Amino acid sequence: MERFRKEITQVLRKEIGGKAGLASKQIGELLELPTESAHGDFAFPCFVLAKAEKKPPQTIAKELAAKLKLTDNIDRVEALTGYVNFFIKPAKLAETVLKEIYDERDAYGASDRGKGRRVVIEFSSPNIAKPFGIGHLRSTIIGNALTRIYKFLNYQVTTINHLGDWGTQFGKIITAYKKWGKADFLKGDPLMNLYKLYVQFHQEEEKHPELTDEARQWFAKLERGDREVRELWEWFRDVSMEEIRGIYSLFDIHFDHQLGESFYTDKMPAVIDQLKKLGLLEESEGAQIVRLEKEGLPPAIIKKSDDSTLYITRDLAAAIYRHETYSFEEMLYVVGTPQQLHFQQLFAILVKMAHEWAKECEHISFGHLTLKESGAGMSTRSGTIVFLKDVLDRAVELADDIIKEKNPQLENREKVAIQVGIAALIYADFSAKRRKDVKFSWEEILNFDGETGPYLQYTSVRIRSLLEKFSGTLTDKVDFEKLGEAEEQELIKALGLFSRTILEALEEREPFVLASYLMRLAKLYNKFYNKYRVLDQDGEISLARVLLTFCTSTTLDVGLNLLGIPIPEKM
Ligand code: ARG
Repeated sequence: MERFRKEITQVLRKEIGGKAGLASKQIGELLELPTESAHGDFAFPCFVLAKAEKKPPQTIAKELAAKLKLTDNIDRVEALTGYVNFFIKPAKLAETVLKEIYDERDAYGASDRGKGRRVVIEFSSPNIAKPFGIGHLRSTIIGNALTRIYKFLNYQVTTINHLGDWGTQFGKIITAYKKWGKADFLKGDPLMNLYKLYVQFHQEEEKHPELTDEARQWFAKLERGDREVRELWEWFRDVSMEEIRGIYSLFDIHFDHQLGESFYTDKMPAVIDQLKKLGLLEESEGAQIVRLEKEGLPPAIIKKSDDSTLYITRDLAAAIYRHETYSFEEMLYVVGTPQQLHFQQLFAILVKMAHEWAKECEHISFGHLTLKESGAGMSTRSGTIVFLKDVLDRAVELADDIIKEKNPQLENREKVAIQVGIAALIYADFSAKRRKDVKFSWEEILNFDGETGPYLQYTSVRIRSLLEKFSGTLTDKVDFEKLGEAEEQELIKALGLFSRTILEALEEREPFVLASYLMRLAKLYNKFYNKYRVLDQDGEISLARVLLTFCTSTTLDVGLNLLGIPIPEKM
């Protein structure tokens, strides 16, 4: 596609180069890729010329369209609502797009855009001694997709899981454990038992406010390095890590570093010193705070009156440590929207400390994901947290029911059910822009005919099995004139938009952009497939359609991979 962009840029440059200060690079960048076929393959917006030409864009578009000297590859141009729309000759477009995919295969859509740029992506970051919640699932899914997209564009990515393994909540759990913990604690579900203690603590705390103080003291003890407390904490951590690891392996997710907040305990004093030296620290009611009035933010507490540190203190130390260790150009924090203020304060303090790089730190926030309807295994045992394990079990159970009905002979049914359940959850996550709250029912996200992960998987599997039935030799030496049906051309055009889509997903940090593109691609293919025969056609037509099918399969699978959606072999 890019080759046509260059060609059209040249054509435009001859007429408008230098006008309104437009260099050819800018002309090229202004060229849009319309999704609607009536608007051509490229569109040039004439609004940019309106001021210099002192004419309405509609007039400019009309005049320009009449004047342009077209090349062989351009079929025609049309002026429409202030745009000049360019139509590439269909066979030329087909040839260029399909040959490119055929050549590049799994690397189709990749680029060197990120070459030499280091990015730290922090995601998932669940809290130890608490069950992995649905919010952390979203962070995990979004962070994983962004990581894959960044890597595909050749960024040098370091992934970090910032485990919540420090803070007053540990004082609470220790208090509760000391008071109400039972000897058979390890039996059954230790993590759930820990969580129950945590819930119990909060209930009792309402009646006995002195518990708050007790918890604070336990945490202070932990921070001072008390051996007995430390051992308890380690045990809580190990139990939690086991569950967390299970989830990552299910989603095929790996981190370069899993560093808990506790890792920064010995790095905080230096940060606090630095803040002091810079005169940024102020005492307020016995605590140490940084005022952020000029930034329009409430003050941030850095150290409590009992000397214990806070979440933000550890984040300051972590950010500085990461910059020293990975010297990144960009750092992303994939964390829910409720923590927006926290990140505003964090970045503001870093800037105050003259860490200019803080401007390249970004909070990738996201809204709530809720699953409607509970049913078996979906009880929210605390009333507030949805347990991921329950969610996954439910997804897999339902997926299994559907597969049993659709394809009872299927081998590895259990494995496929897991893949389908995971795809349903991932696609649900990407079905809207990330800041939006999303609410779903199981029927919706597991529907094989709806806009769902399973639908994409099913399309991918079906296309592949069609290709397996083809007995000839796959080639890109086909007669591209044979791909003349409107459905074919729309599909080819969509295939040509893949690289741009990935770029847009990256620039907006929105896997949603890629997910909705793949949905459109799958639908376009199915529309084509339902209307035309691919195999058993006159040889030339068959060959061309097989190539088109192969290229769709390649693009779809590359895209699914980038989103972290697993593709079953059969389903
Ligand atoms: N563990 C935290 C929580 O669940 C999220 C950590 C986000 N990352 C960070 N650097 N603060 O609330």
